[in-house]
Amino acid sequence: MGTNNNSSGETEEKIAVVTGANKGIGFETVRQLARQGVTVILTARDEKRGIEATASIKGEVGRVIFHQLDVRDPDSVASLAQFIQTEFGRLDILVNNAGASGVIVDVEGLKALKIDPMTWLSGKATNIVQGVIQQTYEAAEVCLDTNYYGCKRVTQALIPLLQRSTFGARIVNVSSLRSELGRIPNEETRSKLANVDNLTEEGLETLLQRFLEDLKHGVIEAKGWCMMLPAYSISKAVLNAYTRVLAKRYPDMCINCVHPGYVDTDINWHTGPMTVEEGAKGPVMLALLPNGGPSGRYFDQTEMAEF
Ligand SMILES: NC(=O)c1ccc[n+]([C@@H]2O[C@H](COP(=O)([O-])OP(=O)(O)OC[C@H]3O[C@@H](n4cnc5c(N)ncnc54)[C@H](OP(=O)(O)O)[C@@H]3O)[C@@H](O)[C@H]2O)c1
Repeated sequence: MGTNNNSSGETEEKIAVVTGANKGIGFETVRQLARQGVTVILTARDEKRGIEATASIKGEVGRVIFHQLDVRDPDSVASLAQFIQTEFGRLDILVNNAGASGVIVDVEGLKALKIDPMTWLSGKATNIVQGVIQQTYEAAEVCLDTNYYGCKRVTQALIPLLQRSTFGARIVNVSSLRSELGRIPNEETRSKLANVDNLTEEGLETLLQRFLEDLKHGVIEAKGWCMMLPAYSISKAVLNAYTRVLAKRYPDMCINCVHPGYVDTDINWHTGPMTVEEGAKGPVMLALLPNGGPSGRYFDQTEMAEF
């Protein structure tokens, strides 16, 4: 699955990049892709954590190579693109996995609430957590800059290399069920994000700026933004919409977004019940889609779902 024969009859390896891959779902996605024979560039913003993670992957079929990548830093993004250009001259798979929760949490207070996974997922925990999860403006800016602008920065820099894929390029944007449109109280925002024909990056970014303005003025609830992880939720909803914009722009690629499941990782303070092995299945399946597979779609783990 991870190799091809090129026109000269030589065996070519499939090349993938995974962002935010020093731990959690990203790390496991690297491992599962390498198991399928893919050469994977494991990226992490912290060099030490990334090198250690890379060294811990042993015995898989595909090679795992480390390269530093902070998705918030344009120089770091440019340096990764240059590295891939020099080493491989093309890219086949991009998994935009790096993510930030965008909130300040009293972890001990949260644990003491003993919220069960069903309550978390249903949205019923929104009021319960307000005392222990704080949405600050600064954390919201970091969240949007990582989850949406970071993904866009990396994608734009790597598109020219993906266009040279000999296998058919795949982009997987790791989203969240917090992105689902039914969770956004404001009807106008919902319909803007659902209107595929009129979606543009400018429109999406205007929406994000409006969110930040409302947050600054303390009116996010009054303006109908999602109150469970407000910045995270809108960042992932916009990421899904961006996925649809990209899929329309690059019809030869398979570009999809995926909720990996509710997984036991640092980003949710280990409240999720699923293992990272289960969580990586959706991203890996979409990274290895056969030619002619779906594009511009949202998946809940390995199943296609409604936005
Ligand atoms: N776990 C879940 O239940 C769940 C559910 C829905 C969606 N997701 C999504 O799944 C993805 C992976 O999250 P996870 O659950 O595996 O959490 P995680 O273990 O906390 O991993 C998050 C990763 O993102 C990296 N990251 C953060 N900011 C970055 C930046 N500026 N540049 C590069 N890397 C950065 C982190 O690096 P550091 O180690 O340096 O901080 C870490 O490697 C995220 O997009 C998340 O939103 C997770």
